[in-house]
Parts: sequence; C-alpha cells; structure tokens
Amino acid sequence: ELRAQLERLEELFTVPTDLLKRITAHFQSELTKGLSVEGGSIPMVPSWCMSFPTGHETGVFLAIDMGGTNLRVCEITLPEAKGEFEIVQSKYRMPEELKTGTGEELWAYIGDCLKSFIEEQHPGEMLEKLPLGFTFSYPATQEYINHGVLQRWTKGFDIKGVEGTDVIPPFEAALEERGLPIKPTALINDTVGTLIASAYTNDQVRIGCIFGTGCNAAYMERCGSIPKLAHLNLDPDLPMAINCEWGAFDNERVILPRTPYDVIIDKDSPRPGQQTFEKMVAGLYLGELFRLVLLDLHENPDAELFKGQDVGRLRKAYSLDSSVISAIEEDTTDDLAEVAAFFTTTLNLTASPAELELARRLAELISTRSARLSACGVAAICNKMEWKTCAVGADGSLFGMHPYFRTRLAQALREIFGWGVGDVPDPVMVRAAEDGSGVGAALIAALTLKRVEEGI
Ligand code: BG6
Ligand code: GLC
Repeated sequence: ELRAQLERLEELFTVPTDLLKRITAHFQSELTKGLSVEGGSIPMVPSWCMSFPTGHETGVFLAIDMGGTNLRVCEITLPEAKGEFEIVQSKYRMPEELKTGTGEELWAYIGDCLKSFIEEQHPGEMLEKLPLGFTFSYPATQEYINHGVLQRWTKGFDIKGVEGTDVIPPFEAALEERGLPIKPTALINDTVGTLIASAYTNDQVRIGCIFGTGCNAAYMERCGSIPKLAHLNLDPDLPMAINCEWGAFDNERVILPRTPYDVIIDKDSPRPGQQTFEKMVAGLYLGELFRLVLLDLHENPDAELFKGQDVGRLRKAYSLDSSVISAIEEDTTDDLAEVAAFFTTTLNLTASPAELELARRLAELISTRSARLSACGVAAICNKMEWKTCAVGADGSLFGMHPYFRTRLAQALREIFGWGVGDVPDPVMVRAAEDGSGVGAALIAALTLKRVEEGI
C-alpha cells in the first residue's frame, strides 16, 4: 500500500526541531574538536586567508575554478576604488572520464584550458606574469597559501595519484610546459572564496557556504582559538579563514538520522565512511536518494510501485541529479503533469496519480531534510562564535536553483534559534553570493600579494 509506504518515508526523512537542536549542539563541539591538536572528523583547515578585503584591492588576476561539472577560467580586473569588477570568463566541461583518470591527465587538461583562454584573450601579446587564484574545492591541508595537500577526493572524484600530495607543483609544471606566464598565488576553497567575495560587498558577512554538488562552509576564526596552530606563535588576535570541510561531520555516526538509503549511497561511493553529512545533504546525492527509494518501492512487494513495468532506466546509478528534484517540486499543476512527463520521457515509466503524488512528496522530503540539516551547520558556527546576528554568503546549484531550499533553510534556523515575532528580519540571514569563486580568488590573490609586499 502506497499510503503506508509514504508514512514510513515521512518518518525516515523528517527531522523534528528538537533533533535539529541536538545535531547543532554536537556539530558545534565537533567544530571545536577539529581545531584542537588531536583533531576530530571535521578537518577545520586553516586557509591562510587572513583578512577581509578592504575594498582597495586592485589589479588584474586570473582565476580558475575546478568545480564538479565545469572548469571555469576567469580574468578579473579589480577596480582602483571599490566598485564593479570586470570579469571575462570561459567555461570548459570537465570530461566525466577525468574524474576517475590520473593526475597527469587532470593537470594536462587544466593546462590546456588555461592555454586556450590566454590565446583567446591575449593573442600574440607578451604578458608579464599574471597572478592566479586557484579554487580547488576539495579538502586540502595548507601550510601556506599557495600549497595544498589533498587529504582525499570528495564529490565522487577518484583521480589516481593525487591524494596525499601537494597539488601546486604538478599544476605549476603544467603551466611551465605550456610556456604560460602565470604564477599560482593562492589555492583557495570555494567556501573561502565565497566568504571573501560576499564580505567585499556586505560587511556583515561572517560565513561563506556552498550548497551545491558538495556542501561546506568557511568562517573567520581567531588564531588564538586554533590550538593546532599554537606552535606557530601567531598573534592570537589575527583572523584566519577556516575551511571547515563540514561534509565530514558525523563520520563517527553518532547523531545524524541515517536511513537505509543513506547507507547504500555511502557503501557504493568511492570513499565509504567519508563525508557522512555531505552524503545526506549535497546536490550530488539528492537525485540518487530519490532513485534508490523509488527502486526500493518497486521491489518491495508491499508497495509495488510501477508494478509490471520495466524499471531498467531507473537502475542506472546517479542517472538522476538534483535538478530532477527541483523540477518535480516546481510542478504546481493539480494533476502533476510535468512530473508525469518526467517519468515517461526520462525513465520510460507510466505513473498513476498515487505514484505521482508519492514521487512529489518524496522529492520534498529529501530536499527538506537537506535544507534543515544544512541549517544545523550554519547555526553551529554562529553558536561557536557567539554571533547573535550576521550575514551568510551562499553559492551552489542547490541554493541557486532549488525553488524552496532557501526558505526551508531559513525556517530551520528560526526553529533552532527559537526566533520569535520580534526577530524581524532574521538575525542570521543567508543570502546569495554573487559569483563567489572568481572574485573571491582574485581578492585573495590580491590580499596575498599585499601581505608578501608588507612582509607578513
Ligand atoms: C559556483 C562557484 O557558483 O558554485 C564555485 O563559482 C562553486 O566555486 C560552485 O564550487 C558550487 O556549486 P556546484 O553546484 O557547482 O557544486
Ligand atoms: C566538498 C569539498 C569541499 C567543497 C564542497 C563544496 O565538500 O570537499 O572542499 O567546499 O564540496 O563544493
């Protein structure tokens, strides 16, 4: 019976307010643990980005952004006085084979993309060395700003020979081989880029978040609150942007309400046991969760979803992405005509009205859980830092494209903090960052050059 199944799913995927609060409290202690000498499962990586922009950063910078789906190359001109930046950019597709190929192939591909960008933008010109900010959005341990040892691939990547090594030397070698006049000046995480770019336009911004293929956040910490850096005797009042890598929250599996479907996602991923939180909330996994539940209901004799139909297409792992979830939730027609059309065209399945209703509710349950659990991370940082009010800059496809992600995230924050009618507008407000990674990378490269100049 579909109704009984739906009740079971409601129970599995709903996270009530009291659990949100308990998750937030545990999240906060895990953030602190990650900064300690012994460490915890959240990496809490010091990024060596040590100031907010002043608005006086200026110059021409290159930026590359190695995201999950595209490789973006930008040239950014920061204006003399704070104002509009000029951006020229090209997008190159990240070929699917590259994600499971070798490091050599990856660096050669990135080098070739940069070469064609320079040839297009500066044909025949003799260029002075251009500083470049490299947005590399994976957990990388940084001992200084243009250094990053990849801890492990996330978001389904599995490129051989890169984990445990510094990614800058092979990248630099690829540039040299191609005779490119480019100097990698800063390696940055997309969350740190988002934090800095958002702070440039809004001085209330304290946190940068990505809700996209992956999920993560960065915030400004005090060096004095980072015990694992104590041996460096840094001025305790200096700020340090921390790339949390909070996707690893609860890898020890003590608090998140995992469902049997989350267990399958983890088991079948290239890095089982890693990124427990991310695998429940990030865009890469939402469509896959949806697919796994539908398949389970087809095979379950008590549900018999799509009874007697060929579910061959539904069997293909990762064939549905989070845009499917967004599209389904966007269908406001009474008969769910668009959801029905999705089933016929994409999956070659005919869905009854009850099946359509179930699919629609399932999409809602999965993405609502994602938004509500994401709110726990934001609230945990605010509580840790004792920020009663601040702005959060956010980027990523889930935040940008899903019709209700933002409002559900905001609602969950209200529940966690217990804001009442007097708290208008919301004391912690999550807003869209505009083009975080390119501008953020350029600003951080500019801030780095300034620090080098000043000898800090
Ligand atoms: C983009 C940023 O807008 O969002 C990237 O420029 C970031 O730096 C990306 O990695 C994250 O979103 P998604 O959905 O592509 O993972
Ligand atoms: C994954 C990566 C992290 C990145 C996030 C968003 O969690 O490990 O570095 O910030 O995805 O892209």
